[in-house]
Amino acid sequence: MSLPKSDLTKQADGRVTMQLGAVLPKTAEVRDGHLFIGGVDMVDLAHEQGTALYVFDEVDLRDRMEQYREAFHECYPNSEALYASKAFLNKEVLRIANEEGMFLDVSGGGELACARAVGFPMERVFVHGNNKTEHELREAIEAGVGRIVLDTRIELGRVSRIAGEMGKTQKVLMRITPGVEADTHEYIKTGCEDSKFGFTMLEDFAFNCVGDVLNVPNVELVGFHCHIGSQIFALHSFDEAVQVMVEFVARVRERYGIEVEDLDMGGGLGIAYTVDENPSSIREFAECTANAVRKYCAQYSVPEPRLLVEPGRSLVANAGVTLYTVGVMKTLPNIRKYVGIDGGMSDNIRTALYHADYEAVIANKADEPRVEIVTLCGKHCESGDAVVLDGSLQHPDLGDIVCVFGTGAYCYTMSSSYNGQPRPAIVFVRDGAARVVTRRETYEDLMARDI
Ligand SMILES: Cc1ncc(COP(=O)(O)O)c(C=O)c1O
Repeated sequence: MSLPKSDLTKQADGRVTMQLGAVLPKTAEVRDGHLFIGGVDMVDLAHEQGTALYVFDEVDLRDRMEQYREAFHECYPNSEALYASKAFLNKEVLRIANEEGMFLDVSGGGELACARAVGFPMERVFVHGNNKTEHELREAIEAGVGRIVLDTRIELGRVSRIAGEMGKTQKVLMRITPGVEADTHEYIKTGCEDSKFGFTMLEDFAFNCVGDVLNVPNVELVGFHCHIGSQIFALHSFDEAVQVMVEFVARVRERYGIEVEDLDMGGGLGIAYTVDENPSSIREFAECTANAVRKYCAQYSVPEPRLLVEPGRSLVANAGVTLYTVGVMKTLPNIRKYVGIDGGMSDNIRTALYHADYEAVIANKADEPRVEIVTLCGKHCESGDAVVLDGSLQHPDLGDIVCVFGTGAYCYTMSSSYNGQPRPAIVFVRDGAARVVTRRETYEDLMARDI
């Protein structure tokens, strides 16, 4: 018996979609009861490629990159957006980021290696990390990266020595902990100095270290960086952080007599994981940061620097979904209904880590209302292994294809092969065509490094 078809809505462009608001990838739609993304039937795709499967809407991905570039260039022409590749990394997403004119934030030698493998222009690469190894620093400097973001005074010595050995001068930013900590809805100013990242402002440590950076050879200080957190809904936190940073820049100018070229405000813009979440748009984020930089530069009488931002989640999270097949079910009366899927904490650790929320639908029943509350549990040997905790779903049956939305960021890059689970393949969909951009891991891959 078919349930009433009441959860659907018609979009302005004529597509029929589920009522899931900003959670949906741009091209999601419902046709004949099936979920389509990029013009591709998710049910057919799951059967062809197997599950678990990561799927990315290429139009959505490119559109967000374009929005970042355009919004920032319009609001503040001297600006660049860096893709924070920790959110989702494979060769294809870096090729697309390059084509879309993004700069790139890499953290660690592996991310840099991937950027080099696709010929990403090194002058557009910024290197992060709170404990970059000697080897990683050497690789970065040798490759000619645009900026190294210094995290400690210890690192300063290493960069200076390595660059000197190579006869180079490395441009650097200093990562500052601005004492503004943001969460999704409010900002708080307590406890946020307690961070392993960057130069603390406590007791003017960061300010005094500027002198050290200016005094060592083979290093050119061109600016400052901060990153106040992730999944931020309260835009005023960014305004607050810009004020702290610009005031710092003004003091540096007065004491050390240098003009700062770059002000890098990091990433952090929040996204919708659930239907009731209403994050700020990329445009609003651009307007807020651009206005703040102009306002505080005028207030503290410093020249306006180049503005940089490093979005990760807000570029890729909603472009990506994960498909699973329902394998088992278990109902505990008055407690919970478990729906067992063929993945879990190995492909999405966020729920087990911090009870992340997600929306899910059954792709082969996409036109039916979500009438049940279920827990989508994984197949791993941990009781906390779940992808959705007590979420709405259509009435499930064995063999159904479940689609979990908003899994494009920090799922694949944080994946594991726990319980010997091969990592899912990654498929990009667009204009009715699907292409595998990262193949599924095999059992042989899992053992490839074993002697
Ligand atoms: C230095 C830095 N930049 C950018 C990002 C990306 O943040 P988000 O994905 O929240 O935009 C992070 C995330 O941890 C970060 O540490």
